[in-house]
Amino acid sequence: MNKAWWKESIVYQIYPRSFKDSNGDGIGDLGGIIEKLDYLKELGIDVIWLSPVYKSPNDDNGYDISDYQDIMTEFGTMEDFDQLLQKAHDKGIKIMMDLVVNHTSDEHQWFIESRKSTDNKYRDYYIWRNGLDGQPPNNWGSSFSGSAWEYDENTEMYFLHLFSKKQPDLNWENEIVRNEVYDMMKWWLDKGIDGFRMDVINLISKDQRFPDGEIREGRLYGNIAPYSVNGPRVHEFLKEMNKEVLSKYDIMTVGETPKVDTEEAMKYVGETRNELNMVFQFEHMGLGNGPEGKWSNIPFELIELKKIMTKWQKGLERGGWNSLYWNNHDQPRVVSRFGDDNRYWAKSAKMLATCLHMMQGTPYIYQGEEIGMTNVSFKSLEDYRDIETLNAYNELVKIKGKDPAEMMTAIYAKSRDNARTPMQWDDNENAGFTTGTPWIKVNPNYKQINVNSQLYDKNSIFNYYKKLISIRKQSEIVVYGTYDLILENHQEIYAYTRTLGDQKLLVICNFTENTPVFNLPEEIKYNSKEFIIGNYVTERSDSIESFELKSYETRVYLLKS
Ligand code: NOJ
Repeated sequence: MNKAWWKESIVYQIYPRSFKDSNGDGIGDLGGIIEKLDYLKELGIDVIWLSPVYKSPNDDNGYDISDYQDIMTEFGTMEDFDQLLQKAHDKGIKIMMDLVVNHTSDEHQWFIESRKSTDNKYRDYYIWRNGLDGQPPNNWGSSFSGSAWEYDENTEMYFLHLFSKKQPDLNWENEIVRNEVYDMMKWWLDKGIDGFRMDVINLISKDQRFPDGEIREGRLYGNIAPYSVNGPRVHEFLKEMNKEVLSKYDIMTVGETPKVDTEEAMKYVGETRNELNMVFQFEHMGLGNGPEGKWSNIPFELIELKKIMTKWQKGLERGGWNSLYWNNHDQPRVVSRFGDDNRYWAKSAKMLATCLHMMQGTPYIYQGEEIGMTNVSFKSLEDYRDIETLNAYNELVKIKGKDPAEMMTAIYAKSRDNARTPMQWDDNENAGFTTGTPWIKVNPNYKQINVNSQLYDKNSIFNYYKKLISIRKQSEIVVYGTYDLILENHQEIYAYTRTLGDQKLLVICNFTENTPVFNLPEEIKYNSKEFIIGNYVTERSDSIESFELKSYETRVYLLKS
C-alpha cells in the first residue's frame, strides 16, 4: 500500500461558531481558535478541518456562502485567518478548509445577478427551469423539507436548491462556473492551506432531464437520489478539478458523499482514479433511520454496525482509503448514540474511541468528542437553532400531524444541534465558551463535562484520546495493518484484528453494559502478547484465550508470532 502523510494524520474538526468566542459576542471566532491551538497541540492532532468561515448570511451556519474570498464578519477578518494559518503551521498543525460548491448563498453576487434577468451574464451559473401549470418543474424535495424548487417572481421561473431556498445550486454543466471554482480553490491553496473537505461533492452533477422522483411511503416529495447523487458527470468534473487544481499541490482531500457504497466510493478515491484521497460515507450514520428518515428513531443493532464498518474496511483496503468518524457537526454525539451517556459515560466513550481509532483509515475527531460531550435535550423548540430541525418539525408535526412529543424525542436523538452546543472548556458560566450570551444554549452538563476537569486527570477521556493518538503515531500496524472482523455474529462484542507482517493487533470492544465472555478464535496463533491500551486497568499477564469483559470494556493487544 502506498504511504502518504494524510494516511498517517489525525484530523480534528472545528465548528467555529461553537468552539471558542474571543470577543464576547456569543459566537465562536478565529481568535478563539488561535487561543486554543496549544490545546490541540497537546491532544496531538495533525490537521484541523475548519467548517466554513467564509462570508455568509448564516441561513445554514456558513454552508451558505456569499463570498468565497472573504471571512464571516462574526468570525473575524482575513488578517485573523492569515494569523491562524501561520500560527497553526508554526505548531506543525495543518488546516483543511471546507469547500462548499454544490451551492452558494442567494446573497452571493453571482446569484444576485443571475436572478435579475434571463439574459444576465450570470444566469447560467445556477439551475433555472420553467414551472409546469403553476407547479415546480418536478417533484424533487429539498434535504431541508419542502420542494427543491423556488419560484422567482422577477423572471417567473424556478431555481433549484437541494438544501434551503437560500442555497441555490450552482450549475456545474457551465464550464465558466467550474473555472471560477477552480480559480477560487487555487487562491486559497496559494495562501498555504493544506486541503479541502468538500461539502456534498457527489451532488454536483444533476441528471439534465430532471425527471420526477419516486414518492416513497410516508414522504411528500420525490426521491432525488437517482438523479442527483453520484450524477452522470460527477467523476468527469472531479477529474477535471484534480487536473486543474488538486494535482498541483501536496494536500489532502475528503469528499462528503452521502449515499455512496464501496464500489462507487472506489471511483472517488481509488489510487489510480485521480479524484480525491478519501470520502465520508454515511451508512453507519443511517443506522436507526426509518420511514421518516433520520427522524424515525429505531434502536441500532451492533451486528449491523459491524457489517457496515467491515464492508468499508474490506471494500477500500485495496487501493482506496477510509475516513473514520463517529461524529461531525451534522450528527448526534456518539457517546449518546452508540454508548451510554449516563452510568458508563467515560467507559463507553473510551471504548467507542478505541473501536474507531484502531481501524484502517484517517480518524476524525469532532470538537468535544475528546471529552465525551453528549447530546442535549432542550425542552422548548425555541432553543433549537438548526434549520434542518426547525423545518422538519414544521413539515412532520404541523403539516403531517406527527405527535409533537414523539418529534421532540427524535430531535433529542438526532438533531444537528446536539453537535453544535458550545464547546465545554470549564465549569464557569457558559462553560468558558463566551463571556456574552451564547448563540445557542450550553449543554447543562458542562459543570461535570469540561476540558478543564480532564486535562490533568490521567484517567480522563481526553487523556485516553491522547494516548490513542500517540499509539497510532508510533505504530505502523495501526495505520497500515489489514483489518479482519472476528466473532462476526456476536451481538455484544465488536472484535477485529489488524495484521502487518508477523504482527497482529487484537481489538476487543464490549458495546453493552453486560459482561459477555470473549473467546479467542482458534485460528489466531501467537507466541507473545503485549497489552496496548484498555479502559479498565488490566494486568498484562491476563489470559486472552477466554475471559469475561466488564461493561463497555475495551482492550487492545499486540500479538507476535
Ligand atoms: C452538508 C453539511 O455538512 C451540512 O452541514 C450542510 O447543511 C449541507 N451539506 C448543505 O451545505
